[in-house]
Formats: sequence, structure tokens, C-alpha cells
Amino acid sequence: MHESRSNGAGQRHRVFSGIQPSGSFHLGNYLGAIRNWVAQQPLYDNIFCIVDLHALSLPTTRNQLRANILHLANVLFASGLDPEASIVFIQSDVSEHAELCWLLNSVTQFGELRRMTQFKDKTGGKEEQVSAALFDYPVLMAADILLYDTDLVPVGEDQTQHLELTRDVATRFNARYGDTFVLPKADIKETGARIMSLEDPTKKMSKSDASPNAAIALTDTPDVIRRKIRRAVTDSGSEVVAGPDKPALTNLLTIYSLFEGEPIPEIERRYAGKGYGAFKQDLAEVVVAGIEPIQRRLTELEADPSFAREALAAGAERARTRAARKMAVVRDRMGLGLADG
Ligand code: AMP
Ligand code: TRP
Repeated sequence: MHESRSNGAGQRHRVFSGIQPSGSFHLGNYLGAIRNWVAQQPLYDNIFCIVDLHALSLPTTRNQLRANILHLANVLFASGLDPEASIVFIQSDVSEHAELCWLLNSVTQFGELRRMTQFKDKTGGKEEQVSAALFDYPVLMAADILLYDTDLVPVGEDQTQHLELTRDVATRFNARYGDTFVLPKADIKETGARIMSLEDPTKKMSKSDASPNAAIALTDTPDVIRRKIRRAVTDSGSEVVAGPDKPALTNLLTIYSLFEGEPIPEIERRYAGKGYGAFKQDLAEVVVAGIEPIQRRLTELEADPSFAREALAAGAERARTRAARKMAVVRDRMGLGLADG
């Protein structure tokens, strides 16, 4: 089912992924990313990072960022990340991320960054006002990944272009300074990598959507979830079937299938002739039941923030040891400083 899990030397493959502490988390984040991290946790040597430096690329405030970091940590632990099985830490606790970003800037081309579609999307035509950090965002992401000799990066489909850039930057660095970085591969699942908006199935479900009904937040109450699914747009026709000409139903069936672990054709067979109403009603209950255990643990964790604080401090300690070892090699290769003559 999974691709090979260890390298020739018998070590488990290294997995690294990151997520921004930028407010609420939705079904796309959960089904496209977090859930896969949790499921694969026993198979790999895992590192998961709360990328607070990335969050600085868009306007935020001190209090908001603080609250968002703690909330994300609790969401990750409530979803099943285990701080014993995985290194979970805050990016800014390990200063090597920012340092390597600067060094990689020197082997990244301005034109490469200008071509990033996420940059173009996030600037919304206002290139003159956005921060330089937003432009440089993919290089910091490359630094995150390359710092840990990462083999696999489990992400949603929207990160493909950033992963390609990471490989290009690593290849260029290796050609110029000698073999230093492992070339990472994106780990993108066939299903769930792109959960779509409930209001417009041609757009991905996103935190930044202006309409609150486009996304289901992991913290939505059962009644809110039921209402959002009832109001979700559907395609013309009345049969519960997926297909290229049925983007809305395909999205709803995908969500159902991922939560229930049931293949889409079986779900289609079960709802044959029953219409959209009955399917949506059941889908709402599937989502409510799928999220309920996470919400319950989240409430418990929020009552005891010391769990997250301690786990993140221990995670940072472990990450720092690995990052420092790698940075010593990188500095030496580039001829920085005069250590070791
Ligand atoms: P972000 O919310 O952009 O920080 O994304 C965090 C993770 O969730 C990344 O791995 C994204 O690729 C993934 N993700 C975000 N939105 C979606 C979506 N609509 N469908 C699937 N995965 C998503
Ligand atoms: N850019 C990613 C996103 O928006 C978050 C991220 C930052 C990341 N650094 C990373 C993902 C390293 C994977 C690996 O979702």
C-alpha cells in the first residue's frame, strides 16, 4: 500500500511536513494533510513543524500568532500526532531554519520565485504592498525540508510547485558545492489531496475564503456542519455519482469515502435512486462522527496547555540537534566563517 519505508541502510525514510498557524483548520487541511501524517506515523522517522515564521509573511499580531500556534499544536495532538512517535516543534524555536533560508536565497533565482502560483494568488494583484517574506516564502519552505535530509513530504496538491522548487534549489546547491542535500519527493495521495469549496467546487477549500459556508472548520459544531452540508452546492441531475462533469458530488463523495474508508463506487451503489437529500443527510452525520473524537480531545488539551508546551519544547530540542549538525556541514561547504581553517 505504501511505498518502501526504508532506505538501503535499513533506516526508516525521513518524513517532514509543515503547517501554518494561521487561524482555523478545515476539512481540507485534515483530509489532505494531517490525517495522512497521523496514519503514516508508525512507518517513518517523522518531523512535523508549526511554521510560525511562514505565518509572518501575511499581516498578523503578536497575540493572534501566539494563540494560533497553541491552537494548531492542540489540533495536531488531538488529531493523533504522538510527540513520542514524531518530532513536533515550532519552526522559530530552531534558528537554523531562518539561517538556511538566507543561504539558499543565494542559489535561488528571482524568476523562479516570481513564477510561484501561490505567490500570485496571495498577492491578489497588489505586488507593490506585500511583504518580501511572502515572495521568499518558498525558500524558507525549502530550508525546512532540506535541513533534515527529508525523503518524503506529505502535503496537499497545492504544494507541488513548492516541492519542485525545493528540488531545483537542492540540485543547484549540490552541483555548486558538492553533494549536500537529499532530493525530497512530494507524497500526495490520490484522494483527498484537493478538497473543494462547498460553495464552488472549482475552487479548493481554503481558510481565506470570504464565505464562511465554503469550508467546514474542525471546530464547527454538529449543527453548523449539518447546515453547511445541507446548503452545499450540487450538480445538475439527481444521481449520487462522481465524475469529471460532477465536481460538487465528486467532492462530497470524496469526503464521505475518506471518513468511512469506503470506496466511492460502493457509496454510489448504495445511494442509487435515493437522491441528493438522503445522501447529504448521511454525509453530515459521517462528518460529525468523524470529527467528534478530535473535538473531544481538543477540549481536553485546551484545558491543559502544559501538554502542548512540554511536547513542543522537547520536540524543538530534538530538532535542534539534527539541524545544528546539518548546518555545520552547509557552512563549511559554502566557505562561511573560518572555523576549522
Ligand atoms: P495551509 O492551510 O495552506 O497551511 O495548508 C496546510 C496543509 O493542508 C498543506 O499540506 C496543504 O496542502 C493542505 N491543504 C490545504 N487546503 C487543502 C485542501 N482544500 N485540500 C487538501 N489539502 C489541503
Ligand atoms: N507551505 C506549506 C503550506 O502552506 C506549509 C509548509 C511550510 C510546509 N514549510 C513546509 C509544508 C515544509 C511541507 C514541508 O501548506
